[in-house]
Formats: sequence, C-alpha cells, structure tokens
Amino acid sequence: MNTVLIGSQWGDEGKGKIIDVLTDKADFVVRYQGGSNAGHTVIAEGKKRVLRLIPSGILHEGKTCIIGNGVVMNPLDLIEEIEGMRATGVEPKGRLFISTRTQMVMLYHRALDKAEEAARAKGKKIGTTGRGIGPAYAAKVSRTGLRCGDMLAANFLEKVREQVEETNRRLKMLKAERVDEGDQIEVPGCTIKDYQMDADEIVAIYKVAQEKLSPYIKDTVPMLHKAKAEGKSILMEGAQGTMLDIDFGTYPFVTSSNPTSGGACIGSGLSPRDIDCVVGVIKAYTTRVGEGPFPTELYNAVDMMDEDGKTMAERGHEFGAVTKRPRRTGWYDAVIARYAQQINGVDYWALTKLDVMDVFEKIKICVAYELDGERIDYMPTSADELARVKPIYEEMDGWMCETSNITRIEDLPPKAKAYVDRLVELSGGKLGILSIGPARESTLRIAL
Ligand code: IMP
Repeated sequence: MNTVLIGSQWGDEGKGKIIDVLTDKADFVVRYQGGSNAGHTVIAEGKKRVLRLIPSGILHEGKTCIIGNGVVMNPLDLIEEIEGMRATGVEPKGRLFISTRTQMVMLYHRALDKAEEAARAKGKKIGTTGRGIGPAYAAKVSRTGLRCGDMLAANFLEKVREQVEETNRRLKMLKAERVDEGDQIEVPGCTIKDYQMDADEIVAIYKVAQEKLSPYIKDTVPMLHKAKAEGKSILMEGAQGTMLDIDFGTYPFVTSSNPTSGGACIGSGLSPRDIDCVVGVIKAYTTRVGEGPFPTELYNAVDMMDEDGKTMAERGHEFGAVTKRPRRTGWYDAVIARYAQQINGVDYWALTKLDVMDVFEKIKICVAYELDGERIDYMPTSADELARVKPIYEEMDGWMCETSNITRIEDLPPKAKAYVDRLVELSGGKLGILSIGPARESTLRIAL
C-alpha cells in the first residue's frame, strides 16, 4: 500500500509525528517537496529530534529514505543533519538516497531570499523562512538551477562560480531596492560584504559538500519502481500544508512548491495510479507562521493575540521548529478542511493536538464564511477576499479534563468525542488517527 501524507492547513500540523507512526508499515519513505524550511519534530523514547530534509523514516532501522526530485535540497543543511544523526548512533549511509534530479538550495539562494524580502514593502512581505526556498524553485523553473546530479560532474564547481557571479549582479540591484532598516544581509556559513558574496569562499564550501554527498546521489526513479514491483510499501512525506501550496494556497503568501497530494507524484516519479491512500494531517485548531490572511485568527482589537489564542500557543508550544517564530493561532476552520479534503482526496484524517483543547470551556468551529455580506462555504481564490471574510462559527461545550493519558478512543470524554465527530463530519473523509500528545505513544490508531 502506498500512502501520501499531507498537511491540511498552513503547515505545523504535527506531520513529523504521524509520519513516524506510519513508518512502521512502510519500507520506503520519500520526501517529495519543500526543503529545509520544514521542521518535522519527532519525539521517540524521550528524545526530541527535528528533521528538516531527511525523511523521519531514518529513525526506524531497515527503512529506505529518499529525498525526491521535487525537494530543493540544501547540501550544507543535509550534511549537518547526517552528522547529527551519526552522533546519536543512526547511520544514514546505505539507507538514504537523494535523487539526481533534486534541485539544490545554495548559499546564494539564501542571500537572494533575504535580499528579496528586504526589498518588499510593508504589507507585501511574505515572511519567508529565509532558507532560500523561493529563489531555488525560481531557478528550477527558469532552468538555471543546479541539480544533485550536477554534483557528480567534473564541471560542478565551475558552474557554482558562475552562479555566484550572476547572483552578485542581482544582489547589487536588490541592494538599491532595499526598504528595510540597515544595509546588510546575513547568511550563516558565509561572508557577505556590502551585498556581495565571495566566489572563492563559496566554491571551497561546495567542494567539501560535493565530496561528502556524492555517495548518496542516485537515480531514485528505478529504485522506487523496483520497490513497487516487489510489493514494498511506500510512504510519501509532504512538508508545509495545503494552504501554503503555490497553486491552491493563499497566494502570494505561500511557499514555492506543491505540498498537496498531486505534488507527491511530480516530486517522486511515482504515477497517480500508484497512490492507494491519502492521509491528511490536521490540527484540532489552526495556526499560521508568517504573513497572509487567516480568517479564524484569535486577536484583539490592537492586533495582539487574545487570551484564547495565547492559551493555544502556550499549550501547543506554537513556535516554529526551524525559525523559532511564534505562530499565530485560531479556531478550527472547516472551510479549510473541506477544501483540503477535495484538493488532496483525503481518505483519512490524522487529527492532532486534541489535548491542547482540554482547557476551553467553549470551543468554536468555523463552518462557513461571510464575504461582503454573503454566506459562502468555499475557499475564495484571492488572498484579498480571504482577508475580508468573517468566520461563521458554531460553538460546542469543552470537556475541561485531560485527554493525553487516554489509550482507547472509547474512553474519550463524551464532549471531546462529540467535538472530534463534528470536525470529521464537517470536513469529509474518515478519522484514521487521533493524536493526544507529542510522544509516539500518545497516538490512538483508529483505521491506519
Ligand atoms: P518559504 O517557504 O521560506 O518561502 O516561506 C513562505 C511561507 O511559508 C512563509 O509564510 C513561511 O512561514 C511558510 N512556511 C514555510 N515552511 C513552513 C513550514 O514548514 N511550516 C509552516 N509554515 C511554513
């Protein structure tokens, strides 16, 4: 059985944990899009790890992990992650493979990400993670990007030098367009003086990376199809979420890839016929990091998080795993969930962080929107329209007791069960997993 796992909201739904749980039934785990803007947190045997590029299947012995062609891979981040694994006794060599077609995120993409964001006026900023994701995908579609297969060629470092020189020309222009305070950009791991990068330094950095990563680079398409022919089970790991999808998200406040389930085929080389099941990970409330509209966001009149929002943020530890930025919080939005169900074809929901809601006397669920005086139950296409909608809420009683120690769904307090049932009813699909705490153990497997 081949499964695609996707995020159904704006990312941070708790995908890392669910992938980790589902990995026990998989032979291969494949990341299909995004890059080190993701941070998949896995807590197992009391140890917390954040995986940015390596599929979390690596923590399970005997599983093969693939970084697919749809990913933009930062070689320096990957080396750091591989070395971090080794330091804790997990050896990725022989189990981790990177597609020859995977695009690379280079230091100069990170510089461009920072410089482009600094040149965007207030209100136009995207609030990117600064990880170079947008510029790397832009290079891919402009057909100037470097792919991992290029690392295996003799002229790789020459190409890197050419790209640094080209980037320096663009950085000069972006410096002139800067609207933020100060006149410098910084990228950890390299020197940038007066918006200019040092080509010799960058080339030397990638010479080392080339030596370290070459053994992992392989054409992964035949590997996957062989696995499929042998009846092996493949789990496709999405990063970010549906509402950050470049096509279906709140454009332009989105990431530059397709986290939705369609992206799984494009980003791996499996065909749509190879997908048996889609699992949508969704939180029992909503969060968002970065800029862009968020209809159910909880804030008061002066644009500060209100008390309910603060409670969610604190109980849910809502700080970015990669950027450490505080996440914006809000009630569950069933319009988003239904949209995610349609776009991704969600068969099963993995509903996460129900325990965060244990302390609310009343809980709201957004069931539809009001747009310019009219009730709508679909997702508007433009971010401007979404910024104007008012959520229409339904209210339910909270259960006001702890759920994280529960081991069987039958033992949920009736009001908690009613909340879960209502979310699933409003969202379509079926409940597959209910997560009631951060650890692997706090997971109720209902149908998966
Ligand atoms: P980028 O992917 O760094 O270009 O950032 C674009 C938008 O996506 C920003 O609003 C980020 O905060 C958001 N974003 C990117 N990756 C993640 C993620 O893994 N979780 C949540 N938000 C993300």
